[in-house]
Amino acid sequence: MIGKTTKIKLISTALDVMKNSHSPHSKFKVGAAILSKKGRIFKGTNVEFDALTLTVCAERTALFSGISAGEKNFIACAIAANSNEFVYPCGLCRQALVEFNPNMEILLIAKDKRTKSFILKEIIPDYFKLNIA
Ligand code: THU
Repeated sequence: MIGKTTKIKLISTALDVMKNSHSPHSKFKVGAAILSKKGRIFKGTNVEFDALTLTVCAERTALFSGISAGEKNFIACAIAANSNEFVYPCGLCRQALVEFNPNMEILLIAKDKRTKSFILKEIIPDYFKLNIA
């Protein structure tokens, strides 16, 4: 479990970056902040395109930012959405995140600032692993 101060910072970063969401098609704003073991935070928003299938979720944008900065060990990810209900990571993002750390702490933040947290592997048990014989 991450500490209270770090948790507050991760949540406020996710809420802040959500404002930069590029979502002209869905109008659904999502912001993610991922924390590395070294204590660095990387941000991401969802990015949508006219060629709709190019869309990338906020979680993967944040993950890719961390990886691009040389990080590989991520311990928590906060996900904020402009939604009355908690937004859970999609299947693609679950798989992308779980390949880095199944024990990652996930924090969800709803529009009214309610939060919910759980461990990533709880929502993607028996995930795909590349095992070459
Ligand atoms: N989206 C995310 O960014 N993260 C999620 O966990 C779920 C969905 C985005 C993708 C798309 O831009 C919009 O939300 C609607 O699907």
